Amino acid sequence: MKLNKSAVMNILRRGRLSAGQDEDIMNFTSSMDADKRIFDADIDVDRAHVVMLKEQDIINNSDCSAILRGLDKIKNEGIGKLDTSYEDVHIALEARLIELVGEDTGGRMHSGRSRNDEVAACIRLTLRDELINIMGEIHALINTMIKTASKHHETLMPGYTHTQHAQPTTLAHHLLAHSNAFLRDLGRIEGVYGRTNQNPLGAAAFASTGFPINRKRTTELLGFDSPLGNSMDAVSTRDFMIESLGCYANLMTDLSRLAEEFILWSSSEFDFIELDDSYTSTSSIMPQKKNPDVAELMRGKTGTVHGALMSVLAICKALPYSYNRDLQEATHHLWRATDTARSCVRMAEGMVRTAKFRKNRMKKSSVSGFTTATELADTIVRDTGIPFRTAHHIVGAVARTGHEPALSDLDKLSIEITGKKLSDMGLSIKSIMNALDPVGNIKKRHVTGGTAPDETRRQVTVIKKELAGIKRDIRKIERKIDKASGKLGKACQQYSC
Ligand code: ARG
Repeated sequence: MKLNKSAVMNILRRGRLSAGQDEDIMNFTSSMDADKRIFDADIDVDRAHVVMLKEQDIINNSDCSAILRGLDKIKNEGIGKLDTSYEDVHIALEARLIELVGEDTGGRMHSGRSRNDEVAACIRLTLRDELINIMGEIHALINTMIKTASKHHETLMPGYTHTQHAQPTTLAHHLLAHSNAFLRDLGRIEGVYGRTNQNPLGAAAFASTGFPINRKRTTELLGFDSPLGNSMDAVSTRDFMIESLGCYANLMTDLSRLAEEFILWSSSEFDFIELDDSYTSTSSIMPQKKNPDVAELMRGKTGTVHGALMSVLAICKALPYSYNRDLQEATHHLWRATDTARSCVRMAEGMVRTAKFRKNRMKKSSVSGFTTATELADTIVRDTGIPFRTAHHIVGAVARTGHEPALSDLDKLSIEITGKKLSDMGLSIKSIMNALDPVGNIKKRHVTGGTAPDETRRQVTVIKKELAGIKRDIRKIERKIDKASGKLGKACQQYSC
């Protein structure tokens, strides 16, 4: 058995536990690797806590200034200087502080606090930044989507249901469909942000503390929106994490559907799109291949993110209140999913921005498979007054013949089905021609949300307005965080000399 630092030396274990820990067991329990992610947040949490302790007269001025200077040094040294034989960044950082300033001073930093509220605060602060980052990336993606859509209000293409040609639509209408989904993803993340940016500090282990701490002050210094209202809840919950993962999972599902379409559309069968070379790979054996690997990986990474959501749900399920070490196991899934989702959004943005759409090929395909059949049935209803279901029957029967429908065919079938000719009831060759024209089809659909170019132009305007609103919200959030970090910096500067 290989022992690491003996328990006598270990500031955490030396009191209650006797032996040094076996390295294998220590590695099993350590969160040091995932904690790299929260190192900066941990320094800020320590600073805010120490400033508050001093202001509440829980520690004195000289201890406060020595601790703040020690924290500065630790920040500059970086996480690499910390003793990795400690089980997490929080205790390793405290140990380094004690090494630098002595226990009589450094040993006071953890007054009125536990690693339970500390780690929750660190995760929330780090996640908060990540949520802002991904909001920016999704914003850019939607912006690119609507810019591209704006060039294709009149670009015909087939719309699908069941992956079968259904009705003509435009590329703008299709891209705007995806844009609306991404806009909801963005809105959901904005909602989660508010519930993430809450301050658990002051909860200590779970029961709060008898020290006269000031939770409002740490809330202010760290730019949290408010303190969490119950100290047991504050250390027990990871629902904010699950919610973020839920948002990422939804986002990835939406991205995977775009990726899937780009994969299909770049196949020889569709040939609607050529992806930029940088988003493709070639084969090691088939020299002609141009494979849509980035889109495929986006589709694949969707599984990674969905898996992360399932993992954290399962880890948190049925945990008795309050803190349990199981919670540590949840955090690295969050970071992996965060990075994965964010990079996928960026890839999607670049892929859309650089893709070449084969307009002629899409236009040609827009009418194959009798995609105008619905409009023909609708036209028959409007011109003759027969019920839609009967028109559906007649047009369905003509579709079965497999050739372009002429008035004579429709009349023949109508006699069989209704006993009357459609031409006698007001259907003309001209209106059949109109119904079969894909441009006429898309232009007629100018109801809200429809395919008509004027309508898709309006949809772009609506999305632009929403994007501008979200940009303002993000700026407001960033200003609030900047302001808080200015306050924290100022207090630290003032109290460390
Ligand atoms: N590394 C721990 C985590 O990520 C920090 C909290 C440890 N708390 C404790 N009571 N052991 O959850």
